[in-house]
Amino acid sequence: MSLVAALDYPLDTVPTAALTPRLRVVLLGCGTVNAGVLAGLEAMPAQVEIAAIVTRKPRRKPDDRYAWLTDLNAAFDTGPDLVIDALPDCAAAEKALALAVERGVHVISANKAVIARRPDLEARARRAGTGFAYSAAVGGGVPVLETVARLKASGETITRVRGVLNGTSNFVLGLLENGVSFDKAITAAQAAGFAEEDPSADLDGLDAAFKLALIARAAFDIAPDPYGIPADSLFDRSVGQILGARENGLRYRQVAELSAGADGVLASVRLQALPEDHALARVENEDNAIEIICASGTTLTLHGKGAGQAPTAGSVLSDVRALLAKGSVR
Ligand SMILES: NC(=O)c1ccc[n+]([C@@H]2O[C@H](COP(=O)([O-])OP(=O)(O)OC[C@H]3O[C@@H](n4cnc5c(N)ncnc54)[C@H](OP(=O)(O)O)[C@@H]3O)[C@@H](O)[C@H]2O)c1
Repeated sequence: MSLVAALDYPLDTVPTAALTPRLRVVLLGCGTVNAGVLAGLEAMPAQVEIAAIVTRKPRRKPDDRYAWLTDLNAAFDTGPDLVIDALPDCAAAEKALALAVERGVHVISANKAVIARRPDLEARARRAGTGFAYSAAVGGGVPVLETVARLKASGETITRVRGVLNGTSNFVLGLLENGVSFDKAITAAQAAGFAEEDPSADLDGLDAAFKLALIARAAFDIAPDPYGIPADSLFDRSVGQILGARENGLRYRQVAELSAGADGVLASVRLQALPEDHALARVENEDNAIEIICASGTTLTLHGKGAGQAPTAGSVLSDVRALLAKGSVR
């Protein structure tokens, strides 16, 4: 007798939930990134259920579909399998990720600051065999960390990484090059959903330093202190200097770089005036681009949307699908 004949119902009518337990998810934050993630998860009802959504301000309009909470402990009391962190860099985010790791809850995060500052959280999750992924934290929609991991898995030795890693700075620089003032350029970046309420980490190079720290972890198995990476601020240049460079065929770009040598790995975030035909000078708007150079001579260049709801939420959702594919749902 065949297996299909032994069943009371045809296989294609078996509800997926009967075969696979659904992943119980707590969303940490529901702003630009996680609102996009929520929409993606709503399209996966057989695999995912939303246990709670944590925000800073209570939701004014009642929404019976979800438990909207402002208390982290109450969110963890819902018994999640996975937390998806799209909080800003704040004490609440650090507390939430520490709690998740302590309780064996899988973590997916877009929050490069906390992940870069707390390498111990990833190390502890890995030792415990708990999922800990943060594809969206570097490159937005550009698969930087995945590419680094793949190159290493194929036996390559990465020697240098150089790129435009901060979409907000690049967007702002593009407006400054056209004579727009700093204030108006920053407001435009916020209105477009690229810049956070406080954009100083983007413009002062700290955000790119966080990303370098994460790339260094993936490429070189080291955990540099992101606050120790020398960084130039956009405010170190005037609109006049940026316009003057443009008239001379140069474009300022915030260039983040790691290079491995005999003295170890050097990291920096510098505002560089690059010739306009340089690959990094041609990065426009909120795009990111990165060159990854290997000892073998292999050089890879990635270019794509470095910020914004759709690409960033897409990266988070790809981490969710990877977790589901591993079948590590309790
Ligand atoms: N935006 C991008 O393009 C992008 C790209 C890559 C990575 N990221 C990273 O993703 C994270 C989120 O970015 P976003 O642009 O989505 O930010 P956002 O739009 O400002 O949303 C932040 C969310 O976090 C909530 N929140 C803030 N502080 C909180 C607290 N103390 N407790 C509980 N909830 C709190 C906010 O609550 P309320 O709704 O009540 O204000 C909001 O829902 C950041 O770490 C950012 O660096 C963003």
